[in-house]
Amino acid sequence: MGILRLSHVEVRCPDLELSVAYYTEVVGLIETARESDRVWLKGWDEQQHHSMILRYAPTYGLETLGFKVAEMSDLDEYQERIEQAGISTKRLAAGELGKGSGETLRFTAPSGHVVDLVHGMRQVGNMLPLHNPPPEPLGLTGIHPPRIDHVFLMCEDVDGATTFFTDVLDFRLTEQIVSDDGYQLVTFLERTHTPHDLAFVTGPNAAFHHVAYWVDDWNELRRAADLCAFHGVRIDAGPTRHGATRGWGLYFFDPAGNRNEMYTGGYWADPDREPVTWTEAEMGRAIFYYEGVVDQRFLTEHS
Ligand SMILES: [Fe+2]
Repeated sequence: MGILRLSHVEVRCPDLELSVAYYTEVVGLIETARESDRVWLKGWDEQQHHSMILRYAPTYGLETLGFKVAEMSDLDEYQERIEQAGISTKRLAAGELGKGSGETLRFTAPSGHVVDLVHGMRQVGNMLPLHNPPPEPLGLTGIHPPRIDHVFLMCEDVDGATTFFTDVLDFRLTEQIVSDDGYQLVTFLERTHTPHDLAFVTGPNAAFHHVAYWVDDWNELRRAADLCAFHGVRIDAGPTRHGATRGWGLYFFDPAGNRNEMYTGGYWADPDREPVTWTEAEMGRAIFYYEGVVDQRFLTEHS
């Protein structure tokens, strides 16, 4: 079965309380655990203990990201494959990374990002009963996306990072933006039959472009934009349409400067689907389909 989906991200923030207030009251995630330097949060419909960890740090950026695997044996198999690729790994027992954490295989990807493969994260339920549930719990606040969707990372060698994630970790390439001289500028990779669970864009190694949570439709993006404006959150782009993935998105920044997205739409991606290629000349339309251009700041501003 291998990797099931994106499990979580761990982001740095210099003012933990301010970030907790933003992620619980504006984004509307649910706090599930807390220690002096870390707070664990989840989307309301997620069964697992967390999809977001806020970590106190003097700066912003991505500390780690995690993918959920189906079986404990997947961790053994991937450990062997990753080490055969010349990358050292570390095993962490369930609970070692906080009370809710599962058994973890940790390594640093060629892109410079610290990646955890996780099995058996604590299950806490989705706030709905298992018998005759309503469609949504009462009393949610803010945007309240039901679940995490994808993560967008930066690295110097997008071709190399993409090859590692496809060859060693069994991701499938759905779309790519290719430069005039034949290099991959952006790649979109999936495990969930959606257009992307993970994407890479050219930039500094280990840099973080954004994490996206799912909302159910375009109207929810409009409501998310209303809430961002109301709370004085800096909106970066959208709501708009992506050419690549065919999704709709709204980008904004958390108080530390980490970019967030609310995302919806897209298509079903069968495993035998041929990847779509966008040319460098059409990169603007691939990213912002209506605008047809993407400013350099959007491509270079990161945490
Ligand atoms: Fe995105």
